[in-house]
Amino acid sequence: MVPPAATASTSVQGSPQVPVSVGSPSAPAVKDPAKDTILTPRFYTTDFDAMAAMDLRPNEAELEAICEEFRKDYNRHHFVRNEEFEGAADKLDPETRKVFVEFLEQSCTSEFSGFLLYKELSRRIKQKNPLLAECFAHMARDEARHAGFLNKSMADFGRQLDLGFLTANKAYTYFKPKFIFYATYLSEKIGYWRYIAIYRHLEKHPESKIFPIFNFFENWCQDENRHGDFFDALMKAQPDTVRGFTSRLWCRFFLLAVFATMYVRDVARKEFYEALGLDAREYDKEVIIKTNETSARVFPVVLDVENPRFWVRLERLVHNNEALSAVDAADGPAPIKALHKLPFWAANGFEMAKLFLMAPIRSEAFQPAVR
Ligand SMILES: [Fe+2]
Ligand SMILES: [Fe+2]
Repeated sequence: MVPPAATASTSVQGSPQVPVSVGSPSAPAVKDPAKDTILTPRFYTTDFDAMAAMDLRPNEAELEAICEEFRKDYNRHHFVRNEEFEGAADKLDPETRKVFVEFLEQSCTSEFSGFLLYKELSRRIKQKNPLLAECFAHMARDEARHAGFLNKSMADFGRQLDLGFLTANKAYTYFKPKFIFYATYLSEKIGYWRYIAIYRHLEKHPESKIFPIFNFFENWCQDENRHGDFFDALMKAQPDTVRGFTSRLWCRFFLLAVFATMYVRDVARKEFYEALGLDAREYDKEVIIKTNETSARVFPVVLDVENPRFWVRLERLVHNNEALSAVDAADGPAPIKALHKLPFWAANGFEMAKLFLMAPIRSEAFQPAVR
């Protein structure tokens, strides 16, 4: 799982918003209290009994095939640090270092959030739904590996995410199963497209590879792709989750929430993308278009992301978000700040409503070959 709306997943508006220890790699020290915003990666919980009772028969063969792929554990030997990491952290200038460490923190939190959810699901449904439980256990294995690998890179910068503290102190958002499916499916697929886009860009521009962790993205993103395929198959096993009027509305809502959150967050930390030689807006546009297209394989509708008005409205959200951050950064009592923020919150609500009401595209028209 990646930047879950997250993921993934999905964040950064200045200071780190997750508990971290700061110090030398050998002696991490001070704990930074978490500050959650709508843009930080979320932790989820769900109705475990409903998950356990889920009838998989409508798509059991595909789920069994996916589980068999998970059992093969293709990346068992992939996440092994090599000598390239030695001294790599020291080569970054202070500005790049700052934005890169923020990226590591956010990614690690997202991966860890996926691990916790999948692990808990596998544990709680083991007796009643062994196939589903096994799939979740394999995915938890992958996410633990991803989070651990990121955390080791953070240690290169003298920081460590305190995962125990995070588990105990982070607020958990309750979603009923079908909402978990939408959110995690999108988080996995958007994670896949995010990682592969960076990997392919750096393949062409090796001079922008600021840290060796990017060499691992190609195989890594295949894990996320398989996780996304699992949720695709799971929704097809529960066809009511992707059928009918209400489901169409919810799919639109989740697509919009994930895309808008990622766009606002990534533009706010555009310096990180600049350090890789990427333009945050162009990068996000590519990731959104690809994820939207992929989602049409299972969601009944997708968004009209080719419509120029979609991007104009996302830019208005960016503008409002910058204004909100400016109010936050200024001095003054909280109630006055809230008063100053009110028009921007209202404007964001208005833009989101307009985005939500834009005519969607029926997936049959978009992905006829696979539907
Ligand atoms: Fe994943
Ligand atoms: Fe992951």
